[in-house]
Amino acid sequence: EIRQQAEQLIARMSLDEKVGQMTQYDWGFNPINPETGVSVRDLLRDEIRQGRVGSIFNLSGAEEANELQRLIAEHTEHRIPLLIGRDVIHGYKTVFPIPLAQASAWNPALAYRTAEAASRESMADGVAWVFAPMIDVSRDPRWGRIAESIGEDPLLTSQYSRAWVEGSQVADAPGQATASCPKHYAGYGLAEAGRDYNTVDLSDRELRDVILPPFREAVEAGALSIMASFNEINGIPACANEYLLKTILRDEWGFEGIVASDYNALQELIVHGVAGSEEEACELAVLAGCDMDMHSGFYMRHLPKLVREGRVPASVVDTSVLRILAVKIKLGLLEQPFVEVPSVEAAEAARVQFTALAREAAQQSIVLLRNEAQVLPLQKSGSSIAVIGPFAHNRKDPLGCWAFDGKPEDVVSLLDGIRHAVGSSAAVHYAEGCSVSVDTMAASGLTEANIEQVLEAARQSDVVVLALGESLEMSGESRSRTSLDLPGAQRQLVEAVAALGKPIVAVLMSGRPLALPWLEQYASAIMQAWHLGVQSGNAIADVLFGDYNPSGRLPVTVPRSVGQVPIYYYRKKTGRPPGGVYSSYYIDSTTEPLYPFGYGLSYTAFQYSAITVSDASIGVAGKSSVSVTVTNTGDTAGTEIVQCYIRDEVASVTQPLKKLIGFCRLQLAPGESGYAAFEIGERQLAILDKDMKRTVEPGRFTIWVGPNASSGDAVSIVVE
Ligand code: IFM
Repeated sequence: EIRQQAEQLIARMSLDEKVGQMTQYDWGFNPINPETGVSVRDLLRDEIRQGRVGSIFNLSGAEEANELQRLIAEHTEHRIPLLIGRDVIHGYKTVFPIPLAQASAWNPALAYRTAEAASRESMADGVAWVFAPMIDVSRDPRWGRIAESIGEDPLLTSQYSRAWVEGSQVADAPGQATASCPKHYAGYGLAEAGRDYNTVDLSDRELRDVILPPFREAVEAGALSIMASFNEINGIPACANEYLLKTILRDEWGFEGIVASDYNALQELIVHGVAGSEEEACELAVLAGCDMDMHSGFYMRHLPKLVREGRVPASVVDTSVLRILAVKIKLGLLEQPFVEVPSVEAAEAARVQFTALAREAAQQSIVLLRNEAQVLPLQKSGSSIAVIGPFAHNRKDPLGCWAFDGKPEDVVSLLDGIRHAVGSSAAVHYAEGCSVSVDTMAASGLTEANIEQVLEAARQSDVVVLALGESLEMSGESRSRTSLDLPGAQRQLVEAVAALGKPIVAVLMSGRPLALPWLEQYASAIMQAWHLGVQSGNAIADVLFGDYNPSGRLPVTVPRSVGQVPIYYYRKKTGRPPGGVYSSYYIDSTTEPLYPFGYGLSYTAFQYSAITVSDASIGVAGKSSVSVTVTNTGDTAGTEIVQCYIRDEVASVTQPLKKLIGFCRLQLAPGESGYAAFEIGERQLAILDKDMKRTVEPGRFTIWVGPNASSGDAVSIVVE
């Protein structure tokens, strides 16, 4: 029925109107021509009236959205509403933790809820298309966009991909529905040297084993669109890459939704050097299967002519328009293009609910990395606490990257959170010490006077909470770093405080894992708190004082130094595993990471039973399962994230040392035991063989069940 409705519309549309549907502009880009006084928005309004625009993004609210939809309704013949987009990456007005933080919860169901809440909030502003989730497997912390990712693992990313797509795609009523846009297809997270937009060269095997599974999962979960990435991949930029956009996406996976380019990516085909002109860029992208042109305007300028000249078949345009109209129809935009501004009471009720969710998500996102002598949790009463550092009373940076619609005044700073938590029962002393900004990466903002304030606050206290990290501008798009150390004067700050000999709790608020082996000398406790969004301070205080027992686990390996990068657990053995000269090692460093993938501490202790195997020997089409009993042996309730990894010991193609094949969350009261079972079958055992066929090869498989990628007991299963 949807197809029929779309086809009927297409049959009545002019070529320009069709190409208009394939054209998207950034409403936020609005320079004014100094000579004519005409703004880009004035020109765009004209284009919209003529039916030459299919999508707009970066609008600022319901009124503006309705105004533009009215231009369509009142001036165009076919009244096809705009698909209004926005980067709703980790919340909209209610900002949730950055995706890398949410990934640390190892809780896709929670990501479903934050994605749904974000879509509901943005939908109320007329945004029906969220450019999320970002599901690029990311193995390089120098890359600023690791903050937007689910980390380094294909399975974890795939599970979040499904949850995020399903959560983002709200379908309440016509016009009250949203489409997701998983991105960036494909390989963007493997940019050479971690430098954004850089070249990506990877084998088909790596592409299919590591990079594509989350996208396939998104497609199977019903994603209505996908964004092609900026990067070239094996010599062909993604938005002109027929192998990615047609062979895999359409032919193999049967994807029927919209493929959108990234921002100006058509224009970049010229810069990449695969197109000699705008026309050629246009031709390459459309023939490769890119349905919508984000912002370059190339389709509108050249596609009608290319069709008239026979360089692009008219059917190619019709197919793209069909996909775009189908999404608009599915969302109910043709029935109801306008949004109603919610009542103050309804908006407030939603806000209260989303704020509670933001706190829950932030609590679960925190990873406790170190807790010597059980310095944590802190006592609330009778103590004296110093809260020091550039992020201690900071309401901007916890918002993280891509939080255009969040407001610093909605953020609970760490100092506020601690003060709320302790009330009048503890003394709290605050000093900023130094500030950190992207403009002063290397500068020292630590003056004599600042140090004196810091030392004064610390001297009066029993314990020092140091809030360290990166400002929000240091991660996200185009925010690559060559250093993974604390920027600015933060190390000097740590050293100055440490000289007093007070216990230090370091809270790391960053958009990427930082390589800080030196911090362990000074800090008794280290907490990876990422950029946690509006409830940052409350959630960190909840963990500091034990009101929430930390349950986060690292979704990325934390390196010891930038020289170890890329370092990830899912690596191959090599012919010479580390161990002595002429092995694959460093002469000046261990090859082991600072903290392994999957790692995180709790205030309680969990004991694993021996692993039970249902069938130690199975046929190639057989099934087995492994299980453990986990007991909370401490005196605090806690959540353990039980992880299961596999290795194919001998295969026709070299395999990773370990591969995550499952995980589960066990919430256990003191003394309570829980049961975790993992299925072993085709899905877990199959590899891409020499001929690139998914096959289960006979042989021995080792399976680990444990608390992270570097520990846990193992058992064997033989496939005959
Ligand atoms: O959605 C983003 C994308 O992730 C990076 N380039 C710009 C797009 C639109 O803002």
